[in-house]
Amino acid sequence: MKIANRADRIEPFYVMEVAKAAQALAAKVAGTADPMIFLNIGEPDFTAPPLVQKAASQAIESGLTQYTPALGIAPLREALSAWYAQRFGVDVPARRIVITAGASAALQLVCLALINAGDEILMPDPSYPCNRHFVSAAEGNAVLLPTTAAERFQLSADKVSAAWGDRTRGVLLASPSNPTGSSIAPAELRKIHDVVKARDGFTIIDEIYLGLSYDEAYGQTALALGEDIISINSFSKYFNMTGWRLGWAVVPEALVPAIERMAQNLFICASTISQHAALACFAPESIAEYERRRAEFKARRDYFIPALEALGLPVPVAPDGAFYAWADCTQAAQKLGIGPGKDCSWDFAYAVMERAHLAITPGRDFGTVDTGRFVRFSTANSMEQLQEAIARLHKLLA
Ligand SMILES: Cc1ncc(COP(=O)(O)O)c(C=O)c1O
Repeated sequence: MKIANRADRIEPFYVMEVAKAAQALAAKVAGTADPMIFLNIGEPDFTAPPLVQKAASQAIESGLTQYTPALGIAPLREALSAWYAQRFGVDVPARRIVITAGASAALQLVCLALINAGDEILMPDPSYPCNRHFVSAAEGNAVLLPTTAAERFQLSADKVSAAWGDRTRGVLLASPSNPTGSSIAPAELRKIHDVVKARDGFTIIDEIYLGLSYDEAYGQTALALGEDIISINSFSKYFNMTGWRLGWAVVPEALVPAIERMAQNLFICASTISQHAALACFAPESIAEYERRRAEFKARRDYFIPALEALGLPVPVAPDGAFYAWADCTQAAQKLGIGPGKDCSWDFAYAVMERAHLAITPGRDFGTVDTGRFVRFSTANSMEQLQEAIARLHKLLA
């Protein structure tokens, strides 16, 4: 079978190998004193709250299960517009909001709408691996720019300006980021946007973790910067609906017809049942529950990160959002006899999995420059599990 070059360019997820090995080991150690703890999974441990579940059942029972318009049902686009006004104080008209099958489909549509073959898109290293693959699937080239802790592992305006070349078309950012949980400082984002705009480029910003912000200094949407900003978002993280496959993009008005044409052809629409259910996310009772859960995520972060650091796993940038800890494992790996090689976090993740029954994610997939010495812990797990994870790491690294 001859596979298209486009498919060949999409790299495998190495972390899936670790995840598979963790699953296999979990089956063996289930029922022992130390069953596997999974801190490698990037999704909330909570499910959709009761009102949302009920709304999904009602949609099914009343036959609201046929195709919807490609851009999504009007009440949901309006509910999101109202949410932006209430929560972020920004005016985002419903006509600029496109409902999609998760942020993944939103990223795909936006990349296909904006990127021509050979176009270059600037992105930070480290970043969420799928984002560079969306660029690649659109036959563009993702140019990963190394970042430092001092830059919060995000791009800076100077870096964007220096890297901008003849083929550069724009930037693809994520704030808060996966794997670091750190956001772009608002003043820096404004400067990046100015640099991009002056070069007639586009700014795409993945704001999928914005709802899970814990610091007012960072928790603002980039949409406030102007109508040319393209923001990607989702019901997966703050709204705890990963498997419901529902997200959205806010795009400039001029882009809506192109996105609509492609959405009609590539997806027809996002899940109808999920769209009707998602209306219940904005009921005061659901928002109160989401805010309670956000406080729980923050409490987990506040417990877990100092505990990790005390064990010799420093987290160079304190995450202001999401549910990740991006920790330098060089020193801890050495304690386990793993040398400070280019990819020591791979061996460290295996050692932690095999010896402490703790699944974590090595940095390899998230970039190329310095990712081999970092591991990503997900704190989307109960406080009891996080405490047990720290106790096991303590024993392992003592
Ligand atoms: C930064 C980032 N963007 C996009 C996605 C895709 O999310 P969705 O479930 O909405 O497709 C994820 C999922 O983990 C993510 O971490």
